[in-house]
Amino acid sequence: MISGLSSCYYDNVEYLYPQDPDCDTTNVTFSNDVMPVISASCTGCHSGSAPAGNIRLSNYDEIVSVANNGSLMGTIKHESGWSPMPKNGNKLSDCKIQKIDRWILDGTPNN
Ligand code: HEC
Repeated sequence: MISGLSSCYYDNVEYLYPQDPDCDTTNVTFSNDVMPVISASCTGCHSGSAPAGNIRLSNYDEIVSVANNGSLMGTIKHESGWSPMPKNGNKLSDCKIQKIDRWILDGTPNN
């Protein structure tokens, strides 16, 4: 219980995502690195006429809106205050999370 809480004190990129030599975040794009991950892990629930949580993640604009309000990173990093996503599934790999983080830091380009 204590160790779970202590992770909050090390909430920085190096600590949470130690440099992974196999994770290349130099040329992250929406179409290669973000959309495929969201399609594989999220749109099953977050699409259609009655999306889970009333949040749709089926295209660029919908994904940018959750990226910009902080809920995308909060949910996939399992930060406190956010519902962990994918719901009832395995957390995304550190590399996938790093790439999505990079895309947001780059200003969510539509590339
Ligand atoms: C099995 C269905 C399911 C999957 C898969 C899923 N979600 Fe969700 N999501 C939900 C539900 C249901 C909610 C409403 C809140 C809750 O019940 O936790 C939600 C809520 C959210 C929210 C709002 C959370 C908040 O705390 O405000 C975001 C953002 C989100 N999901 C993003 C994602 C992303 C990104 C993925 C893929 C990595 C994903 N979801 C995968 C079912 C799912």
